[in-house]
Amino acid sequence: MTAKIIDGKAFAASLREKVATEVKKVTTTTGKKPGLAVILVGEDPASEVYVRNKGKQTVECGMESFEFKMPDTISETELITKVEELNQDPTVNGILVQLPLPKHINENAVIEAISPDKDVDGFHVINTGRLVTGQNAMVPCTPLGCIILLKDTLGDLSGLNAVVLGRSNIVGKPMASLLLAENCTVTTVHSKTRNIEDICKRADILVAAIGHPRMVKADWVKEGAAIIDVGINRIEENGKSRLVGDVDFDNVVNIAGAITPVPGGVGPMTIACLLRNTLISFCRAHNLDEPAL
Ligand code: GUN
Repeated sequence: MTAKIIDGKAFAASLREKVATEVKKVTTTTGKKPGLAVILVGEDPASEVYVRNKGKQTVECGMESFEFKMPDTISETELITKVEELNQDPTVNGILVQLPLPKHINENAVIEAISPDKDVDGFHVINTGRLVTGQNAMVPCTPLGCIILLKDTLGDLSGLNAVVLGRSNIVGKPMASLLLAENCTVTTVHSKTRNIEDICKRADILVAAIGHPRMVKADWVKEGAAIIDVGINRIEENGKSRLVGDVDFDNVVNIAGAITPVPGGVGPMTIACLLRNTLISFCRAHNLDEPAL
């Protein structure tokens, strides 16, 4: 059996189109455009590419993009002052501070300074708490992209065994909450877990977000399982640099029922979900019905 390849790139393009259609509607209704502000501290090349892509796709969706590049010498207080200024700015509906931040800045303090209503990353503790308690949270973009792809592939997830590899605040923990909200039986696996392979082998849904290239092997996977690979690892192979996921794709593809590739799987969904969250934030700020996206 060869797994269905879940085309996240195509799905993300169609989600962006739906967002753009809704943006046009709300702009006509209100005379205002949704706005996303992105703050980049320092000059990390990977972050610069990521921020540039966000800005480009924001504009393509018909929204305003505001970019703020700060030197890596900026103090925590100065950065928080900038965030507070954006909290007060009615043209800004979403605020994203690109992570990681330089070591002298406390990331949690900066995230907590963002207004929860404008926290389109869904990293603020208020949104974390809302997600865990089943309230109207801003949901972190990467796990949101994963759950959208899973529901599109499998339909109802109720009663399925889901295993999440990784317990980061950005992916693993919110992913587990989203799967639980879909009535899955959820196990989170991490570096101290015993018998990881046996636990993975029982999974109907396996989400890998650990940052280890090709760690999930074919004999960890139940036949027909849905595999979501969040990993983006750059490796050198045969003298060439390439991107691989946390899953040994070439072998797992022969066992799984469905699998996301890397690149072209979960990755493109993240920015599409960020645009979706910015639109939702705009709708909430203007008391408009939220589109079901
Ligand atoms: N750095 C890598 N991914 C992300 C993300 O989704 N949000 C933010 N703020 N920073 C990131």
